[in-house]
Amino acid sequence: MDSFEYRNGRLHCEDVALYKVAERFGTPVYVYSRDAIERAYMDYAQALEGRDALVCFAVKANSNLAVLNVLARLGAGFDIVSLGELERVLKAGGQPEKIVFSGVGKQAHEIKRALAVGIRCFNIESEAELERVNEVAGECASIADISFRVNPDVDAGTHPYISTGLKDNKFGIAITDAERIYRHAASLPHVNIVGMDCHIGSQLTEIAPFMDALDRLLVLVDELATQGIHIHHLDLGGGLGVRYTDETPPTAHSYIEAVLEKLGDRPLGLIFEPGRSIVANAGALLTRVEFLKCTEFKNFAIIDGAMNDLIRPALYSAYQEIIPVELREEGESKAYDLVGPVCETGDFLGKNRELNLAAGDLLAVCSAGAYGFVMSSNYNTRPRAAEVMIDDNAMFEVRARETLKDLMRGEVMLPKGH
Ligand code: LLP
Repeated sequence: MDSFEYRNGRLHCEDVALYKVAERFGTPVYVYSRDAIERAYMDYAQALEGRDALVCFAVKANSNLAVLNVLARLGAGFDIVSLGELERVLKAGGQPEKIVFSGVGKQAHEIKRALAVGIRCFNIESEAELERVNEVAGECASIADISFRVNPDVDAGTHPYISTGLKDNKFGIAITDAERIYRHAASLPHVNIVGMDCHIGSQLTEIAPFMDALDRLLVLVDELATQGIHIHHLDLGGGLGVRYTDETPPTAHSYIEAVLEKLGDRPLGLIFEPGRSIVANAGALLTRVEFLKCTEFKNFAIIDGAMNDLIRPALYSAYQEIIPVELREEGESKAYDLVGPVCETGDFLGKNRELNLAAGDLLAVCSAGAYGFVMSSNYNTRPRAAEVMIDDNAMFEVRARETLKDLMRGEVMLPKGH
């Protein structure tokens, strides 16, 4: 994790000892480092300096307003997939002309609002969606700038649930249909072709699949040019992996260098949509040990964080490091399963972890800044965790812990007599 380190046996985020965050805001609590987010973004931005390029943070990875605002202040663009994400970005100070709109099921009211605020580009994923965007833009007496998400049919070599660039995935238009669909789009009055995009999967730890996809896209870009259809920007999506344990993903810098080399002197603008690689290692989930339950067969540490707070281990068998917030000198290490209070066997954040624990200890689930809080739920009527951002030696609660009142808001019982 970036900007997290032990000082005198105490885990710190920037200059704040994490036990203080737990003391002040309770647990479970998400903690983000502003510095780590900024550095991860700047890795992309600096590698692209001097080019016609935009780094659009994938809002789905972490949509907290403070996170979006920190990125907006650096001039980031944003990749959104819903009206909700659009409104968040606008509220956080993001510029509409730096927003790209992805996702397979854009609704008419979402398209309307995106047109009204003047987003950069609609990343269209099907012919039916093309017709809808053209129609809605017509109703608004407007012209929508569009790109097609082309599915290049490459294997990203990642978990099947987060692999999106194969021909049997629901995403994008098949590369074999792309020429025909681009030609059709060129004949429609209310869309303007500006780009081509792809996103082949997430948590990629090799450059090769990105390069395969890019090769295929470039053949298509060149072919379309011969037909008078000029692509102004290529959007390569997100997908760059991070280190959860011993992975060695390429840096943003080396990935971009390889992309630039392949582009050669084509005058193409570039867009990237990184999510995980900006925020995953900038965040941790703090949780407290409630009880230790050691049996003849197994040792359990029952913690106050659960699958509703962080679902990645249960959903993808994802591995996230779990480390003590304060190193303990006495006692012995044992292999523990770290399980939450939710009534599901799948409710674990880690299995078989060698830890020296006592009830009351604080633990940090590492690399939880991406797809952590945003995927949390209220299962078992558990309020969602608080979120805190650290800035040097200051801590800010950037989302208050939910209350039980929040959870029951909008619910009513049937009136008497029914
Ligand atoms: N662009 C598009 C069109 C996407 O679908 C995604 C992620 C991204 C960008 C950002 O990808 P990233 O840079 O974060 O890999 N919940 C899963 C990950 C799902 C990713 C979905 N799409 C997880 O926790 O691993």
